[in-house]
Amino acid sequence: MTETLKVLVLHGPNLNLLGTRQPEIYGGETLADVNQALVRRAEAAGAVLGHFQSNHEGELIDAIQAARLDGTAAIIINPAAYTHTSVAILDALNAFDGTVIEVHISNVHKREVFRHHSYVSLRADGVIAGLGSQGYHAALDAVIAAGTMP
Ligand code: DQA
Repeated sequence: MTETLKVLVLHGPNLNLLGTRQPEIYGGETLADVNQALVRRAEAAGAVLGHFQSNHEGELIDAIQAARLDGTAAIIINPAAYTHTSVAILDALNAFDGTVIEVHISNVHKREVFRHHSYVSLRADGVIAGLGSQGYHAALDAVIAAGTMP
C-alpha cells in the first residue's frame, strides 16, 4: 500500500491579512480561501494537507521541527518577510529531510532589492514567485506529481 502523502503549508508574518493587505500586490483572496482551495486540491489527489500561519518566527520553527517527526513529506512555505532575514528558519528547514518548496505570491525580484535575497532558497528544492496564490497550487501539484518522497 502506498503511504498517504502528507504536506504542510506554512505562511509567515502578515499573510493572515491576505485579501486586505496591499491587494494590488497580494490579491483579493483571503488566507482562508487559499488554504481551503489547497486542502480540496490535496484531498482530490488523495493527499493530506495541513496549514499554519504565524507572525512569530519561533512558532514557524516549532512547526517545521514538528514536521520532522510526524511523517510530513513536503513543506510548502511562504516565509514572507522572514525569507529575507531568518537564518533560524533556514536552519530548521535544513534539519527537515523532506521536500521544501518556497512560494512567494509576488515576484520578489521585481521589487525592492532587500527582497531579492532569500535565506530559505539555500534549502528550497523549488522556488515559485509572482504567480499569486496559484503559486501554492503549482507547488502542491509538483509535490503530488513527485509522489511520496524522499
Ligand atoms: C512575500 C514577499 C515578501 O518579500 C514579503 O515580505 C511578504 C510576502 C510574497 O508572498 O510575495 O510578506 O513572501
